[in-house]
Amino acid sequence: MCGIVGAIAGRDVVPVLIDGLKRLEYRGYDSAGVAVLDGELKRVRRTGRVAEMEAAASAEGLAAGLGIGHTRWATHGGVTEANAHPHISEGELALVHNGIIENHEEQRERLKALGYGFSSQTDTEVVAHLVCHHLRETGDLLSATQRAVRELRGAYALAIIARSDPSRLVVARMGCPLLVGLGEGEAFVASDVSAVVAQTRRVVYLEEGDVAEVRRDGLAVFDATGAAVQRAEQVSGVSLASLELGPYRHFMQKEIHEQPRAIADTLEPILETGFSPALFGPRGSELLAGLTGVQILACGTSHYAGLVARYWIEALAGVPCAVDIASEYRYRPIVANPGTLVVTISQSGETLDTFEALKYAIAEGHHRTLSICNVAESAIPRLSAMQFLTRAGAEIGVASTKAFTTQLVALFALALVIAKARGRLTAEDEALHVEALRHLPGSVQHALNLEPQIAAWAERFAPKQHALFLGRGLHFPIALEGALKLKEISYIHAEAYAAGELKHGPLALVDREMPVVVIAPNDALLEKVKSNIHEVRARGGEMFVFADADSQFGEEEGVHVIRTPRHVGLLSPVVHAVPVQMLAYHTALARGTDVDKPRNLAKSVTVE
Ligand code: AGP
Repeated sequence: MCGIVGAIAGRDVVPVLIDGLKRLEYRGYDSAGVAVLDGELKRVRRTGRVAEMEAAASAEGLAAGLGIGHTRWATHGGVTEANAHPHISEGELALVHNGIIENHEEQRERLKALGYGFSSQTDTEVVAHLVCHHLRETGDLLSATQRAVRELRGAYALAIIARSDPSRLVVARMGCPLLVGLGEGEAFVASDVSAVVAQTRRVVYLEEGDVAEVRRDGLAVFDATGAAVQRAEQVSGVSLASLELGPYRHFMQKEIHEQPRAIADTLEPILETGFSPALFGPRGSELLAGLTGVQILACGTSHYAGLVARYWIEALAGVPCAVDIASEYRYRPIVANPGTLVVTISQSGETLDTFEALKYAIAEGHHRTLSICNVAESAIPRLSAMQFLTRAGAEIGVASTKAFTTQLVALFALALVIAKARGRLTAEDEALHVEALRHLPGSVQHALNLEPQIAAWAERFAPKQHALFLGRGLHFPIALEGALKLKEISYIHAEAYAAGELKHGPLALVDREMPVVVIAPNDALLEKVKSNIHEVRARGGEMFVFADADSQFGEEEGVHVIRTPRHVGLLSPVVHAVPVQMLAYHTALARGTDVDKPRNLAKSVTVE
């Protein structure tokens, strides 16, 4: 979704802004722009890719020591150059904005009455004029911004430069992330740390309601009351290598192959701390004591991780677990139970529906909250009483892969922590689980070695219009995930069913043209799955079965089998996620779609 970058330096910052915007491209956007102060405010905006805007900026010779840039994902107003950011008000200031201003219509009317003209349909231009209005009253960009944000309702991250003030950028944050990067005699701002790590690792995350001025030699932050405050400086751990493609063709491919490492890294604190509530922060013991239930909230792939976790939590910990799609939960009446642990799962930590669902749960009386997230300092973990950060590293491909499998690892640990706290984990079982977790990166590596066989299957999938995915029990969510991956990046219509549901409707869809993917590990439900397979074969459907190495599953006419590694018990969904990711990836490759940036999708869904 939208991305912000800004810089002030003793050198030309245009290349810094462009580089930052390119690093934000993965989030999804439809137009881009930069504005700089070079005596007067100069701006270049383009719909389409950052590269097109870069060429235009270079043709116009844009260069300056102070500037801001933006990638826009259209919400208010279509994809046009006039709606792209930065917005300039009266030649006095340029502004970029992430988020949505709820009271933009009433402010627009007010500003029109004050004589301001509008050249876009955006809520952002309203903010630009509002700050300009106060700038004319106060003569000071910082005070003007503080006054303006008091009159706004909604979510925003703002970066502003003024013609009258070449020595600073002013930024503000409410509901959308924003950070400041501190260099040597230069400073940067961004909505995502990946946009600045090529310049500096020293970062300061702003808090809700903060307004700050950013100068070459430092930063002054003011909280929502206007009081000067100190925000802690941190050293970002995001590695530049995780933002580069290296030898891979796509980030998705790279991220699929990074899974053994990502899982091993995520396991590190778990194996070090053991299955103790301390794993989730200093309040872990207090907030996990006496749990009576678990409520999981998430969207998309993260929701499917929650569905696997429900199985683990009920089987191992013996507490009831509900899993809700965050965008549904936030709008339905709920019965809050103070004994329930609310777990949000989000790769980005920014997904608006998940964030709002958590806010709603808290407002309704839930105080035991845990966030499982891959991005430190993002909104959802900040709002949660407890946190567990997965160590997947930056995930750039829109299709979530390593974030999913590391979420599963974290959720398995959660189930065992609760089980142990409830006295349901014997020392012997604990040792067996530790052993299984230690072997997990290796099993995932074995699954990755299946790539050539899966790529061959993908050739058969590429011409298809539809596909069915079947799984049972723990692996039904993996079937859902396989179908989501395939439709997301290859645009093949895919649906997933718990295999037992087949005869209750979807069997009517099965014919020679319908490939049916079956996740068939060697577990207690294998015989049931085999019967479901016969139902499909009898109707002429072509089966593609992922079976464990140790299961008795023979190939026959119309039944193709790929053997995944030896069955790994309860952790099997982690291993089985890998082949369905690779199937989607290679099918998309064969169809020539934009794997890392599929149409209509964004990496972080920060709008409703
Ligand atoms: C996954 O491939 C998708 N891109 C999407 O479903 C994603 O998982 C969902 O939007 C939730 O994102 P989050 O984990 O960042 O909250």
